[in-house]
Amino acid sequence: MKVISERDSLREQLREWRRADDHVALVPTMGNLHEGHMSLLRLAREHADRLVVSIFVNPTQFAAGEDYETYPRTLERDQRRLKRANADLLFVPDIETIYPFGTDAATSVTVPVLTEELCGLARPGHFDGVTSVVSRLFSLVQPDVAVFGQKDFQQQLVIRRLAADLHLPIRIVSGPTQRDKDGLALSSRNQYLTAAERQAAPTLYATLCDIARALQAGDDQFAELERAATAALTAAGFEAEYVSIRRAENLAMPDRDTDELVVLAAARLGKTRLIDNVIVST
Ligand code: PAJ
Repeated sequence: MKVISERDSLREQLREWRRADDHVALVPTMGNLHEGHMSLLRLAREHADRLVVSIFVNPTQFAAGEDYETYPRTLERDQRRLKRANADLLFVPDIETIYPFGTDAATSVTVPVLTEELCGLARPGHFDGVTSVVSRLFSLVQPDVAVFGQKDFQQQLVIRRLAADLHLPIRIVSGPTQRDKDGLALSSRNQYLTAAERQAAPTLYATLCDIARALQAGDDQFAELERAATAALTAAGFEAEYVSIRRAENLAMPDRDTDELVVLAAARLGKTRLIDNVIVST
């Protein structure tokens, strides 16, 4: 596995692969790799001849007071893991490579509307940071395919919109959420949880599954389902930010005839913000 941090060396390697007519897949990450990331690598492999993984903890998607400084950085372990998984190239740019004019003067990419609610409400500027860095990674790597996790459902939809709206010749593929045995979605942020919080954490997924079952049974009292779920989360020690039933296609409000729904939630356990979602076909 090649490890590259410079733009020009990256381009040289990509040119060689293009000459050989190899298709390239990109899996962008912020590192601290877990089984959720690894599942995306396997999916990416199915779609391309060459697999590029990027690790970059992107400062512009963290708001002031969020965990940019303390975000777990485990490059050596990640590198060993990627090598074992047969990734072809690990791209680990530094900030100057990604933002050559500095982060304050950086060109910003915004996907309006879709980013203005749910996680976008509690984390202003977050999605602009995500789309700004992902656009740069797309320009640098020029992948044929890019793979994102459904765990970050809104993010994955925003990136699909970005690619479609800017006519980017990149196929966006999503992989299912990987979970611990008790249902908790794998996340680098789970390690912030205390032992007691970790015990309570699976309630988030369990609550979403309760809503999914009710929807599948024909319940269409969306507001009431959301209210009951919020109460269940509060009872389990969470501070719920939102629980929301939306159209899976575009996060618009559903009506009783919508067949593809997504139930999304964000909630805090102590200092840790957890998100999760389930897709429901009715
Ligand atoms: P990060 O949180 O490292 O996640 C990288 C990718 O892994 C994302 O597409 C995310 O949805 C996916 N992922 C995380 N947990 C998962 C799980 N339990 N199951 C399946 N996939 C999972 O998301 C980011 O980084 C950043 O915002 C990024 C897109 C890299 C831009 O900086």
